[in-house]
Amino acid sequence: MQLHQLKDEFVLEVVNRIHPETNTSLNGLYQSSGNFCTQCEAHGFRQITYYLDRPDVLSVFTTHIIADKDKYPVLLSNGNLIKESAGKVTWHDPTSKPCYLFALVAGDFAVLEDGYTTLSGREVALKIYVEHHNISKTQFAMDSLKRSFAWDESRFNLEYDLDIYMIVAVDDFNMGAMENKGLNIFNSAYVLADPKTATDKDFINVEAVIGHEYFHNWTGNRVTCRDWFQLSLKEGLTVFRDQEFTSDLHSRSIKRIEDVNALRTFQFAEDAGPMKHPVRPESYIEMNNFYTLTIYEKGAEVIRMIHSLLGEAGFQKGMKLYFERHDGDAVTIDDFVASMSDANNFDFEPFMTWYTQPGTPTISIVSNYDEGSQRLSVEVQQLNEYDYLLPLNYALLDAEGAIFKQGVLNINQKNQTFVFDDVDSEPTASWLRGFSAPVNLLTDLDFKQKIFLVGHEEDAFSVWDNAQQIWLSLIMTPDKVDEDLFFDAIEKVIKDTEDKSLISEILTLPSERFMHQQVDVIDVFDIHQKREMVIKKILNRFESLLLETYYSLINDGNYELTPEAVGQRSLKNICLYYLSKGQHIDLANSQFNNATCMSEQIAAFNALLGTDNQYQDLAKSSFYQTFKEDVQVMDKFFAAQSTSPLANVTDIQRLMEHELFSFNTPNRLRSVIGGFSQNYVNFHNQAGYEFFTDIILKLNKTNPQIGARLVSVYNHWKRFTPELKKLQQQQLEKIIQSDDLSKDIFEIVQAALK
Ligand code: BES
Ligand code: ZN
Repeated sequence: MQLHQLKDEFVLEVVNRIHPETNTSLNGLYQSSGNFCTQCEAHGFRQITYYLDRPDVLSVFTTHIIADKDKYPVLLSNGNLIKESAGKVTWHDPTSKPCYLFALVAGDFAVLEDGYTTLSGREVALKIYVEHHNISKTQFAMDSLKRSFAWDESRFNLEYDLDIYMIVAVDDFNMGAMENKGLNIFNSAYVLADPKTATDKDFINVEAVIGHEYFHNWTGNRVTCRDWFQLSLKEGLTVFRDQEFTSDLHSRSIKRIEDVNALRTFQFAEDAGPMKHPVRPESYIEMNNFYTLTIYEKGAEVIRMIHSLLGEAGFQKGMKLYFERHDGDAVTIDDFVASMSDANNFDFEPFMTWYTQPGTPTISIVSNYDEGSQRLSVEVQQLNEYDYLLPLNYALLDAEGAIFKQGVLNINQKNQTFVFDDVDSEPTASWLRGFSAPVNLLTDLDFKQKIFLVGHEEDAFSVWDNAQQIWLSLIMTPDKVDEDLFFDAIEKVIKDTEDKSLISEILTLPSERFMHQQVDVIDVFDIHQKREMVIKKILNRFESLLLETYYSLINDGNYELTPEAVGQRSLKNICLYYLSKGQHIDLANSQFNNATCMSEQIAAFNALLGTDNQYQDLAKSSFYQTFKEDVQVMDKFFAAQSTSPLANVTDIQRLMEHELFSFNTPNRLRSVIGGFSQNYVNFHNQAGYEFFTDIILKLNKTNPQIGARLVSVYNHWKRFTPELKKLQQQQLEKIIQSDDLSKDIFEIVQAALK
């Protein structure tokens, strides 16, 4: 329909009828467990009504909701409740916002209520709405919300601006959570947590996601994006903020190791594949496909580099200026960088390559030590088409392992030479400490020097990173590694390292997914077997030490989320992982039966499903009987089975016939189908691929956003061994030839086939 000859100002009233009850896309207005909720970012509001659905159109919203009061006693929208009578409410949001931040909820919920007094004395009502049977699992989320308010005040001097903050948890949600103004809507997996059903990782994730969505109130809502190409303006910055939140509250070094590991495993792969794009992309077919690891994780790394270059005080000065200039506006990444630049008198022009170029840069470092002049000269070279500006953190260690010099080199040219004087013996250099820039680094360090760094570096990230590099060599080129020397160093780590989480990170081998990127041709089975070989070697060498360590970590049944307690459990679980692959499957069975928290229970359950053993069937049925009412634990139950090396296509089909399987619930689909697609033993064959493609084609009709995420599994097809490469290509061609292909799936598949 078109409207003609309109006055400059007019009122347009639109009345329309929509069908949330059949909306399986989970965008716009839809139903979850009978309750109504919305998801508007990026383009969901236009599925509810006609609108100028772009982020730079800001307006004040008033929402009237009328509903059957018995079925839908809770009626929510953004802002403040200004009128209420039976089955009828009016909400008014005084802050101007784009429609992607609109939300509406109508349903039957239980609520946990609390309050927070802000720095300047505003009393904020805090409410968390969940389905009635989940109310006992909400306290941790409420505490996390209060910690988020307090942290943003203390670290960023940012306060909340309305009188009420609401979170609603729903079981059917495409993403993790959504920052709608004053009314966040969450995937229930990121709200509900108690020690019996949630792992340590789950707890820390709940807190991080609650923090993330809360922090958007300033970085995203008060200052929003001019257009969707600026997405990283809010997401990269807010991920940086939630990473800092977790780092300040828990173990900073472990958080860094986990984040870098995820970045290098997933984002580096994306950045080397057919969907690679700059942190500020230049085009898209379907915006939902651009909520990527590059926008989020690389975007956060780019912010982290700005933070490193300016220091905390300089960065905060830049943030202050950013809000002074742009509060209430829809702005660009350039506006953000200009604030950082102007507040600090720092030229970010050469830095902008990070925003405009795709791909992971490679940096090479070659050192030369001259004994006569006592000089160390270091040549740093960028092996990329474009040059980047980046901070390179380093330390120089003497022969005893003491650090005698450390600092940051600002790299900003293709070739640079740095000279260190008065170095009285040949040092060992540690480069890129803390992973100070998201690059691939080539150094001239030899195997012995890497082992030396594992034993002596103070930076936990570097210790872990050097160990990872050696594990990788031990898996891929065992003949080139002095295994005994490395295992001696590992033994020392196990015996002498205080931080038990760090020990367990160091004992964790690089994942198969990570290794797929380190080879030219992906031979899934070869990589799997080579990795299993190293697991055997570890068992041969360390069985008794692992057993001794395992038994030294008996827990007293009290659940705490301190770094010490988390460390004890992760070390215990990694010991169990190895031991259960050897002669000690009985340990897994007894840990499973005596577990006092989900961290212990699920590790034991996974171990039992990881090998053929007599305990497995009983474990499965007892786990099911104990937890069948718990949606979050059932997701773990399904995922443990779909990722088990014993599961084939028939087993997965059987899981899909399970009474608790639900195709239209993304979490459940991810545990079964997403899990199976990461099963490197049984997914990669014709039957696996054909089964998977059928699922994609079904999702094309029901939930293309999820379909597009899953189909990305085929993105690296060109790098597989010839037979699997051909099979994956056939699947992609089948998909692209199918009728009525959604924009979402089309965009991914056509890029992959190019
Ligand atoms: N704004 C996003 C949610 C979103 C993503 C809406 C894609 C529409 C399309 C939200 O702030 C977000 O980033 N959520 C993350 C979790 C977060 C902790 C990184 C998510 O949902 O994965
Ligand atoms: Zn976000």
